[in-house]
Amino acid sequence: MVLSRFDFPEGFVFGAATAAYQIEGSSFGGCGSSHWDTFSATPGNVKGAESGAIACDHYHRWGDDLDLLRAANMDGYRFSTSWARVMPDGVTVNADGMDFYERLVDGMLERGLKPFQTLYHWELPSALADQGGWTNRDTCFRFADFAEAITRRLGDRVAAIATINEPWCVSWLSHFWGVHAPGQRDIRATARSMHHILLAHGAAMERLRSMGQPNLGIVLNFDYAQAASDSAEDQKAAALWDGIFNRWFIEGITKGTYPANVLEGLDPYMPAAWQDDMALIGQRLDWLGVNYYTRHINAHDAAAPWPHLKDGQGDLPKTQMGWEIYPDGLHHFLTRMARDYVGDLPLYVTENGMANADVLQDGAVSDDVRTDFLFSHLAATKRAIADGANVKGFFYWSLLDNYEWAEGYEKRFGLVHVDYQTLARVPKSSYHAYARALAKND
Ligand code: FCB
Repeated sequence: MVLSRFDFPEGFVFGAATAAYQIEGSSFGGCGSSHWDTFSATPGNVKGAESGAIACDHYHRWGDDLDLLRAANMDGYRFSTSWARVMPDGVTVNADGMDFYERLVDGMLERGLKPFQTLYHWELPSALADQGGWTNRDTCFRFADFAEAITRRLGDRVAAIATINEPWCVSWLSHFWGVHAPGQRDIRATARSMHHILLAHGAAMERLRSMGQPNLGIVLNFDYAQAASDSAEDQKAAALWDGIFNRWFIEGITKGTYPANVLEGLDPYMPAAWQDDMALIGQRLDWLGVNYYTRHINAHDAAAPWPHLKDGQGDLPKTQMGWEIYPDGLHHFLTRMARDYVGDLPLYVTENGMANADVLQDGAVSDDVRTDFLFSHLAATKRAIADGANVKGFFYWSLLDNYEWAEGYEKRFGLVHVDYQTLARVPKSSYHAYARALAKND
């Protein structure tokens, strides 16, 4: 199904998303060490021990990259501002870092692109990681300081600010599974980081609000949780996974509580008097970002310790990540957010996309499978709008092939191909299809 911008409400923002560490190059411009630099330097954590030291060299090529967004008729760009670049030791400002982001934001405005900024897309300064990172409550208030400093510089020009990208990844994926930095596998660290990452969100919201900054939100990720069977145990397993991944963060923010089925396992490990933080966490949002990629099929595993889960996948086609392509899940979360949590609050699809083993052949990349992915998820978004969700925009992940965290550079998510030897950019056929759909003079 081919859609165009005219199938969506007037003013709908179409764009693409990236994140600082994945594209900029952390070895440039006085950027400080982050826990991703050290995690990736430790054997076994990242495929090929690859790091974001150079990445796509966006630090130097940002002008050309913004031109690519503009040439595809996009309205907005979701980018992130690295804490380690702006404050290399976590507290002291690096003037070059601030200047870089100012050039970048001004460059977006010159090209008519709305800047959608994310404050934390995972570059925790190593100096703060040394003090316990997200297991340490103090990190939340250092984060609010960072939010204030960068907003004093850019706040008059950005269209929207998200505090945190994907609290589930920051906490569960990174402290329970140990897949992302800091690579911990510890239930106490997990419980603390799941709470502290929301406290950091709340502290930054409060700080930015007190400065009069408009349009503040957060970006949450969601995973469609389906039970492997009708058995009561598998149903319970899916409900628990739904609680851990999909309910914990949005309920903390909008209901001032955490799901009881998750607290059953985490309560003994929560920080003391965590309930006293819920008022700060529960501040009013101006918008909510929804990141969505796939679904998982959940079964109860009696032999495993809490959360007693075994996950599997459905039988629809998979992406290069091995993630099942399930657009109905996006419709589910957009309508569910509106119905159960945020009502009419503006929603943005802040990430949705697929990795594919793209090949550059005769100077072109034919990735029709990505074009289909994109349009099927745009169609799901359109259906969600028809069903009452107040969705205001859609950002494809990602503009460029980039550093896919623990997967290194092998997994390609971009609309634009990047040759990591020459750093040359080549727009793929999906980029051209998106550009045609977004043309304004149809
Ligand atoms: C999300 C991340 C983003 C990217 C995509 C594929 O979890 O926010 O940085 O890695 O997945």
